[in-house]
Parts: sequence; C-alpha cells; structure tokens
Amino acid sequence: MGLCCYLGCLESLVFAVGFVFLLRWTYFLFNTIYRIYFGTQVTTERYGKDSWAVVTGSTDGIGKGLALELASRGFNLVLISRTIEKLNAVAIEAQEAAKKAGKSIHTRVIAFDFSDDTSVQAYQGIKDKIKDLDISILVNNVGYTHQVDRSTKIFFDETTVNCYPIVLLTQQVVSLMTGRKGKKSLIINFSSQAALSPTPGFSSYSATKVFDWYFSNAIAHELRRNDVDVLSVLPGMVATPLTGRKVADIKEVVITPKQCADGVLGNATSGMTHGGAAHEVTAYFSRILVDLIPINLFYRMADSIGKQLQQQFVKLQKADKQKQK
Ligand SMILES: NC(=O)c1ccc[n+]([C@@H]2O[C@H](COP(=O)([O-])OP(=O)(O)OC[C@H]3O[C@@H](n4cnc5c(N)ncnc54)[C@H](OP(=O)(O)O)[C@@H]3O)[C@@H](O)[C@H]2O)c1
Repeated sequence: MGLCCYLGCLESLVFAVGFVFLLRWTYFLFNTIYRIYFGTQVTTERYGKDSWAVVTGSTDGIGKGLALELASRGFNLVLISRTIEKLNAVAIEAQEAAKKAGKSIHTRVIAFDFSDDTSVQAYQGIKDKIKDLDISILVNNVGYTHQVDRSTKIFFDETTVNCYPIVLLTQQVVSLMTGRKGKKSLIINFSSQAALSPTPGFSSYSATKVFDWYFSNAIAHELRRNDVDVLSVLPGMVATPLTGRKVADIKEVVITPKQCADGVLGNATSGMTHGGAAHEVTAYFSRILVDLIPINLFYRMADSIGKQLQQQFVKLQKADKQKQK
C-alpha cells in the first residue's frame, strides 16, 4: 500500500515536471514561429523619414549586410569601423543599394578603433560627430573573437571591443534619441548563440556575449518609456571574416550576412532574435538539448565542436593564403 502510494506520487511528480517542460518548449516554439513569420519590419515609417542609422563594425560581415539593407530601406547611415578606405567603399555601395531600391540616402563615415581608445573623451568625440543628425537607429554590431591566437593582446581586444562600445556608445546615442520627442527609435545589440550556455573553447567570447545580452535585456525595460525599441541578436554561424566562412552552407547551418540582416530587420519589436530562420530553428533545438542532457555532456560536445571550428578556421585561412599567392 505504502509502495503504491509512493509510486503514484512519483508518477504525478514526473508528469508535472514533464508538463512544465512541455509548456516551456511550446512557448519557445511560438516565439520562434512569430520571429520567422510575423515580426515587425524596420521601416522609415516606424522610425522616421530622413532619419539616420549608426552601424558599428560596418565594413565587413554582418554589419555591412545590415548597413546595405538599412540603406535600401531608406535610412541615412553613419558607418563606424577602423579602416577609412573600406568605410568610403561601403558608403558608396550603400548609396547604390538605396538607389536600386528607389531611395536616396546620405552617409557619414567615422574611422575609429574600439580596441585602441576606451576613454570618455573618445566616446564623447563620436557623439560630437553625429549630434547634428536625427539618429533613430543604433546597431551595436562591432565584435571580435579569438580563433587560434591566444595571446594576451587578443583577449584584451576581445573583451574591450565586445564590452565597452555597447555600453558607452549606447549611453551617448540614447541621449540623442530621447530628444526625438514623439518619434520611435531602435537599438540593436549583437550577442551570439554562444551566450546561451557557457562555451568551452570560446569561454571568454561566450562570457562577453552574455554581458551584451544581459545589458541589452535590461536597457530594453529601462528605455520602454522613452519609445526606444531594443533588440538583442543571438546569431549562429554567419559567413563572415570572423568565422572564416565565405559562403552559406546548409550542412553546417551557416547563413549569409544578407540573410542575417533580413532576419534582424524583420524583428524590430521582438526583443530578441537569432537573425534568420535557419538560426531560429537551430537555437530552438539547442535550447531543448540544454534542458534534456546532463550539462557536463553538453560542455564536452561544445568543446569538441569548438575545436573542430578552430581547425576548420585554420584550414580556410591556409587555403585563402595559397589562393592569394
Ligand atoms: N559571424 C558569426 O558567425 C557571428 C555569430 C554570432 C555573433 N556574431 C556577432 O556579430 C557581430 C559581427 O560579427 P561579424 O562576423 O560580422 O564580424 P567581422 O566579419 O569580423 O566584421 C567586423 C567588423 O568590425 C570592424 N572592426 C573590427 N574590429 C574593430 C575595432 N577594433 N574597431 C572598430 N571596428 C572594428 C571591421 O572592420 P575594420 O577591419 O575596417 O575595422 C568589420 O567591419 C559581432 O558582435 C559578433 O560577435 C557573429
């Protein structure tokens, strides 16, 4: 009798826990479907005609993809990266992208190295260069990760570039956005799927991306009353110089910067996106995996995937160098 009662209680408990997990996964599923099919588009109608978007790390990869897509949607652009030649080239490309879409835009470029100068004056200097503009969008995209080089300088750059600008530039630009009385604004903050759990092999990178994600989630609530939408982006692998990948690859679920940009700019009010349908789906399943398997096994899998990625990165770089010879 006692054993039957014990087994009955255990069965009810297992059923209750299973039910809670099913509810959680159903909630994730609805969010995933919403972000793929029903998100709010980033448009000049929502954020202001003739307004400006500031994009950091805008001369390559995802940042360039976003800059070109914003241009074709009619936003004027402030482009920030290190290399002036690349900035000028992207500015011309953006104007052409806008023209193709029947729009005309203005651009302004700022050459700045976020790993080099973390002073208050430097960030105030960036604000001084844009304070005459009607800034409606800030894209905190610039980011960096080590692949194989494990020198102190690389870790310093990774921590500095991934953590300082998102806070300090946001603070400068928010003071301009809150002056846009009656108009909506948008801040897009780049984190990564590597923030969903500690990632051995990319431990410092995943930790900085948790920093970005937490910061983004918190300011989303702080800025709600100021009509500022805040979107956190946690992509999987995108074909950019950072990953060494050149093309989209279904087998490895690598998407293009354009696909990522479309996914991001289709989710203005979603609060969070993985940037692109393929990554929404992989993130959904990896969240279920984290719930289901023991965490040590998950770490071992992540570690082995990380090592494979680093080896592939080295191979791709070698192949690239040989091609250039
Ligand atoms: N690619 C992915 O698979 C992936 C996945 C998840 C999350 N993310 C995140 O997405 C963001 C963009 O990644 P990405 O792959 O597009 O990077 P990327 O291809 O390496 O491009 C980085 C951009 O930032 C600029 N940049 C680099 N260091 C800089 C510095 N110190 N100061 C100013 N500008 C700098 C680069 O231009 P210059 O060289 O001219 O400065 C370039 O325009 C990052 O935050 C990354 O963590 C990427």
